[in-house]
Amino acid sequence: MNLSERELKELRPMIASWISDDLIRNLFSMMSEKMEPELVGSILISTLKQFPKGSDEEMILAAARKHLYREEDENVKEAGDAKKIVRDYFDSLLLEMRLMGSTLPDTKTDLFNRTFSSPIMTAALSHLGRFEKGKETMMDVYAKSAKQTNILHWVGMCDNDWFEQIADLGAETVRIVKPYADEEKLINQLVFAKEHKAIAVGIDIDHTFTTSGTIDVILGEQMEAKSLEQMKRYRDATDLPFIVKGVLSVRDALLCKEIGADGIVVSHHGGRLPYAVAPVSILPDIKKAVKDELKIFVDCGIASGMDAYKALALGADAVSVGTHLIPYLRKGEDAAIERIEAMKRELSGAMAYTGVRDCHSFDASVIHRR
Ligand SMILES: Cc1cc2nc3c(=O)[nH]c(=O)nc-3n(C[C@H](O)[C@H](O)[C@H](O)COP(=O)(O)O)c2cc1C
Repeated sequence: MNLSERELKELRPMIASWISDDLIRNLFSMMSEKMEPELVGSILISTLKQFPKGSDEEMILAAARKHLYREEDENVKEAGDAKKIVRDYFDSLLLEMRLMGSTLPDTKTDLFNRTFSSPIMTAALSHLGRFEKGKETMMDVYAKSAKQTNILHWVGMCDNDWFEQIADLGAETVRIVKPYADEEKLINQLVFAKEHKAIAVGIDIDHTFTTSGTIDVILGEQMEAKSLEQMKRYRDATDLPFIVKGVLSVRDALLCKEIGADGIVVSHHGGRLPYAVAPVSILPDIKKAVKDELKIFVDCGIASGMDAYKALALGADAVSVGTHLIPYLRKGEDAAIERIEAMKRELSGAMAYTGVRDCHSFDASVIHRR
């Protein structure tokens, strides 16, 4: 996608004057090929902030190209595509019917002392648009859709002023903070979340590294691989329920229990690691290991009430839907609400046909592998 003159005019004041219009145009079209259109502006601005004044423009373009088009082995790209692995796994799961004596299901779900209409939740997304105080972005549409449908809403990386604007829309909210190297910022965001009525907080641990084994810098912010002592400290920095997002092994789930976490999100963040196991395929092992001592949430590739059902049957307490909702959010609040309601109905249908009367009654033995 090419940058229009109007968009260039909007971006220009936020980008250093030594950077040429041509570089901005080239970066914009390169980034547009690889990411959601709403993300391009803010990522472009923060990418350019990382380069010192007078940096060679060819070098900037080459660095951006390297980051965007991860130089991967061709085989890994195809066979190791973690999103495809998730889709294939979901589609390999079949349901038997259990209809004798069945009843209409109740999808109400209790989480963190609140009652929600469904165990389907939003996922911790971020940067859907560019924050300007008082101006609506897709992050607001997302939160309003969660509130209207009475589902638990998750918010990802954002500064406090953006979080406050989202939280003020009134959805029950979980805030997932980044593993910032700047600990003061990290703890401040956890504390701020509580002051702005979040009902739980947490940290994602699966975007700390780049796939080429360096520590990540996300939108200009330096991340840090955290020790267990640090994780305990963050846990103790808040009396809200504390969630670790990005758990994809029994080992990490048990360590989350050890640091005193209240919940985990079984996730690989939409495919950070090639050949990663599908989160839903490792759920039963994690559930067996942690039993009811941690709330178990799951995301990655959930795109229907049927997918949600399978994850719930395999041990999740609730499931998050992110990427699948983005096209609906783009169309607006009504479209997003309608899609969430439709997924809730799909889940109800699957529950009715398999004899699951409520959210305490999911049973993994309904599931067969194709
Ligand atoms: C645009 C976008 C922004 C995201 N931002 C964050 C974030 O700030 N923090 C986080 O923990 N996860 C973030 N994620 C990851 C999601 O929470 C989720 O783990 C991932 O997208 C997989 O779920 P999905 O397939 O339903 O999207 C983001 C995902 C997308 C697509």
